[in-house]
Amino acid sequence: MTIPSVDLTPRIGSELKLDKAALLSGEHADDIRALLVARGALVARGLFLSDEELRTVARTLGDLRIGASKRGTDGKTLNEGEEGVLKVSLDPKVNPDYARFLPGNHLWHMDGTYEEIPPFATLFTPYRLSEQGGDTMFASTYAAFEDLPADEQARLETLRVVHSMQAALFPVMRDCTPEEFAVWYSYPQRSHPLVWQHKSGRKSLVLSTSAAYVEGMHPAESHDLLERLMIHATQDKYVYRHKWQLGDLAMWDNTGAMHRAMPFEANSKREFHRCTLNGEEPVTAPERMAEAAA
Ligand code: OGA
Ligand code: MN
Repeated sequence: MTIPSVDLTPRIGSELKLDKAALLSGEHADDIRALLVARGALVARGLFLSDEELRTVARTLGDLRIGASKRGTDGKTLNEGEEGVLKVSLDPKVNPDYARFLPGNHLWHMDGTYEEIPPFATLFTPYRLSEQGGDTMFASTYAAFEDLPADEQARLETLRVVHSMQAALFPVMRDCTPEEFAVWYSYPQRSHPLVWQHKSGRKSLVLSTSAAYVEGMHPAESHDLLERLMIHATQDKYVYRHKWQLGDLAMWDNTGAMHRAMPFEANSKREFHRCTLNGEEPVTAPERMAEAAA
């Protein structure tokens, strides 16, 4: 059975035409998951989900992440949502430990690239909108890979990239203190293949602002390659831009799409509630990588 939906752009983004009861029931969960992976990002309007309802919908779709997953700058754990719902806001009263990492959300990224198994998906609903800006954009890293010429695909499939918190945060906090810079550096770094061959067989680019460098490549060549791929992957034809209304729910496939928050006013009370679904497969290298190494 297919679920009612409308494509928002040709390559990424669909609007689900399901009401709250249909989402909560879980009866369409398999179809929603399949559509999410096929379309990169899904939105539904007019739902006004409570935290409890957001959790319930999330649990129909995957393995809800509970508790802390990141180390705070002060050594304490960050609140990734004790009850599975993370509050995302710059407002220091809402989630002060997490707020200091939010500048990184403004550049194109995947969530959790520091983890061996990055999160599968994120569900995101607004509680308070910004006064200006604050749209969220999504870019399909499946479509971006699939459109590359075959010889370039083959070359990229042999490369690995190191992801770091420092790479993600420095471009948006160039005025950081040496102490902040050092703390970002103390976070775990993670090497992933540049091309992910998913269990499904489909391939995507693993790009993110956290991508620090290509292993074994001259730094200048690495910088230029990552920059060129990022420009390629975020062309308008691969992007859906969501303008938020209260009551919306968006979810993105974190394994086949990047996302970013567009600028909004400083000291904004913008607040979203978010559920994260744990990943289900590590970033797996294409067979070609092992052949190239042999
Ligand atoms: C996030 C994120 C984007 C936004 O919560 O991981 O990147 O628009 N959010 O706030
Ligand atoms: Mn994010």
